[in-house]
Parts: sequence; structure tokens; C-alpha cells
Amino acid sequence: FDEGVQHRPLFGRHILVTAGPTHEPIDPVRYIANRSSGKQGFAIAEAAAAAGARVTLVAGPVTLATPPGVDRIDVESAREMADAVAAALPADAAVMVAAVADWRARDYAADKIKKDGGQLAPLPLAENPDILATLAARPDRPRLVVGFAAETSDVVAHAMAKRVRKGADWIVANDVSGDVMGGADNTVHLIRADGVENWPTLSKADVARRLIEHIGEELAND
Ligand code: CTP
Ligand code: CA
Repeated sequence: FDEGVQHRPLFGRHILVTAGPTHEPIDPVRYIANRSSGKQGFAIAEAAAAAGARVTLVAGPVTLATPPGVDRIDVESAREMADAVAAALPADAAVMVAAVADWRARDYAADKIKKDGGQLAPLPLAENPDILATLAARPDRPRLVVGFAAETSDVVAHAMAKRVRKGADWIVANDVSGDVMGGADNTVHLIRADGVENWPTLSKADVARRLIEHIGEELAND
């Protein structure tokens, strides 16, 4: 019986976590963003560190304290997040919780865009890289790649399709039709190749601990 392994099941592992929104600059004073608070991702980083892992947390702009024992890398945009994720490899598992902006402004305006006598300025968009799909397709990918899927309807069906499309091993699907964004609780489904586990509504800290427990068990199956 090894007490160290019992209490620190992720000892010796490197876990990469992304969290928060991204901000996509339009001009020096404006950006595109979303409602992600970063709480669920930060809770997962904290739970992974508490389980003994070395944790790299790539965080978009959030107002949260860095959990104890976590290496935090702050980024703004999706493209910066993609670079930070690649730079953090290798990792044993990656948990991609960030609400990455799907689009950025195609052209960054170095000067503040001015109102133009009632004419609306057009805002052409470009699609951001898919950080999760890119990571999952790398030959040096983490052994376990976990995505999150925030959905407002047909939560499990959309998330199952996303798991396959993105090449993720697991998807944690959550229903964001209520006030999950920024809230303390989360109702999720863990979707794996062999089926779906429906979890009860839990605090984000408990969702994090439970997910980290599953990750520890999976990584122990060498
Ligand atoms: N994700 C990512 N890079 C992106 C978009 C999403 O890494 N450019 C990751 C998220 O961190 C999450 C998962 O992909 O783990 C699912 O994100 P989601 O926004 O639900 O998926 P999308 O493919 O963007 O689909 P949707 O059109 O529903 O937004
Ligand atoms: Ca998206």
C-alpha cells in the first residue's frame, strides 16, 4: 500500500488545461468575446494539481486567482492560445475547457474605427483554428484528449458528433441553456467512445474532482 500514490494519483503526470474565453481584437479598444468565466477550467486545473499532477493552465482573459501549484500562461486570442498549447507539449492528458471564440476580425485596425455619418462599418470575420482538433491530430498528442461542449439543445447528440469530428477521446457536454455561464454549478454528461455517463448537477469543483478521478484511472491503464 503506497500512501503517496493513493493520494496523488496523477503524480508524475503533466496535465494541460485551457480555460476562459478568448478575446479577438478588432481595433485598439474593441474585441469579440463570450460569456465564459473560466471557473470550470480553473477548477479542473486545481483538482489536477491537488491530485499531484504538474499542471499547465493556458488561460484566456479571466478575473480568477491562479490555483495553488499550477503553472499559468495568460493569453488573449485564440491564435495565442493555440501557440501556448503547442508550446506546453508534451502532456499526458489535455482538458480543453476554453470557450474559444469561433471567429476573429479578419483585419485588425491599428487605428480606432470611427463612426462614419450613419454608415455602418463592415466587420469581416475569419474562422479561428480549432485548437482541440489540431491537438488531437498531432502525432505527439497527449494520450488522453478531453474536450468540452457547451450546447443549448440536443446536448448529448451534438456532443457525440463533436467527439468524433474533433478526434477527442472524451467530451464533457454541458447544457448552457440555463445560467451555467459564470455560475457555481454544472450539469454534464461524460461522453466516451463506449457510451455516455449522465452526472447529477454538481458544483464546478465537484465536476472537476470527478473528471480528474476518471482521468487518473484512465492514465493508470498503461
Ligand atoms: N475548441 C477549440 N478551438 C476552437 C473551438 C473550440 O479548441 N476554435 C474546443 C473547445 O475548447 C471545446 C471544444 O472544442 O473543448 C468544443 O467547443 P465548441 O465551441 O462546443 O465546438 P465548436 O466546434 O466550436 O462548435 P459550435 O459551432 O457548436 O460552437
Ligand atoms: Ca464554438
